[in-house]
Amino acid sequence: MADPVVASHLSLVLKAPPTISSPSHSLPQQHSKPMASSLNSAASLRLFVSSSSSSSSAAARLCLRSTSLSFSSSLKSLAFSPLSRHKRGSAVSMSSTGGFSSVASPKCAASDPDQLKSAREDIKELLKSKFCHPILVRLGWHDAGTYNKNIEEWPRRGGANGSLRFEVELKHAANAGLVNALNLIQHIKDKYSGVTYADLFQLASATAIEEAGGPKIPMKYGRVDVSGPNECPEEGRLPAAGPPSPADHLREVFYRMGLNDKEIVALSGAHTLGRSRPERSGWGKPETKYTKDGPGAPGGQSWTVQWLKFDNSYFKDIKAKRDEDLLVLPTDAVLFEDPSFKVYAEKYAEDQETFFKDYAEAHAKLSNLGAKFNPPEGIVLDDGAAP
Ligand code: HEM
Repeated sequence: MADPVVASHLSLVLKAPPTISSPSHSLPQQHSKPMASSLNSAASLRLFVSSSSSSSSAAARLCLRSTSLSFSSSLKSLAFSPLSRHKRGSAVSMSSTGGFSSVASPKCAASDPDQLKSAREDIKELLKSKFCHPILVRLGWHDAGTYNKNIEEWPRRGGANGSLRFEVELKHAANAGLVNALNLIQHIKDKYSGVTYADLFQLASATAIEEAGGPKIPMKYGRVDVSGPNECPEEGRLPAAGPPSPADHLREVFYRMGLNDKEIVALSGAHTLGRSRPERSGWGKPETKYTKDGPGAPGGQSWTVQWLKFDNSYFKDIKAKRDEDLLVLPTDAVLFEDPSFKVYAEKYAEDQETFFKDYAEAHAKLSNLGAKFNPPEGIVLDDGAAP
């Protein structure tokens, strides 16, 4: 029984282009110092005027970007009640004008298995054309990684609950650049009303790992979304790349999530994918011989030579200190310095199979942190079979 909900939204987006000059790259640890001001480069301002009633939905968006001065408006979101979202196989095609909306959608109680599978196919297509595997992995990690095991109450405990779709959380310094990831997958969210943001973020991340050649991750779905920006976690729960004592810092942050040393090292191996960009995080070179031609948007500094291939080269390359053009953050370097971390880092550099096994388990655990599932046992899409 569909019970349409109305919400009218007017959103004005002002987005500044990155204007920060690149930091120096002559530092001994193959990275440059983060610049606080660079974090502002991704800052955007979004204003909403919204009204709602309980019977139908329409949203108009005005989008003004300083880079393109483009203006667009679109009718968005004919949304259905949580009840209709549960109908199996009821893929509802909504406006796919693209673009990110941080408008709180009505509570989406859980995801629909058939729509999840279709969304996964769409993500695979997106990966083929945009080569955006790394940033989708980072999106999933940053939604989940705010989890605090010492807080019982959902969603105050943080974690994989879709809160990262809201502007207030995207503006956290650690999330610089992730608005681009959201923009890339918003059209998929618009197409599948029966898939929550929380699930979509984790689905996109796991699919990206698998499509990049990584292990099959034993995922489950059915995550419930938070419904408003007031439910976002406070800033500062994600790790910093250059803290005074990297090992202590990693333990403080990851232990708070309920993760252990083995999981810290295995998950850090996700840096086998992707690049760091000075205009986003403040870390890395503006470009290297490995990134100047893309694929995808060129530039940044990668941790590995083939930064779209998921393998154990992250560990091999840090160990070999093989190339000034490859990035090693202080929190990466410490994996081979701290006696407990080192056991795993050495193992993963030698043995890709063990890395894949440990990574897949740790990734699945990360993706479930803080999540509220409906049904409580979650939804498994593949019954153990390869996707
Ligand atoms: C251990 C603590 C960690 C720190 C300090 C850290 C820090 C960073 C930094 C500074 C960047 C560069 C962002 C940019 O400039 O765009 C980055 C990128 C990335 N991180 Fe991490 N990270 C950590 C753990 C993780 C984990 C656990 C994962 C996933 C399981 C992950 C996945 C990624 C990916 C895939 C990228 C590349 C994004 C892209 O190319 O757009 N990181 N990380």
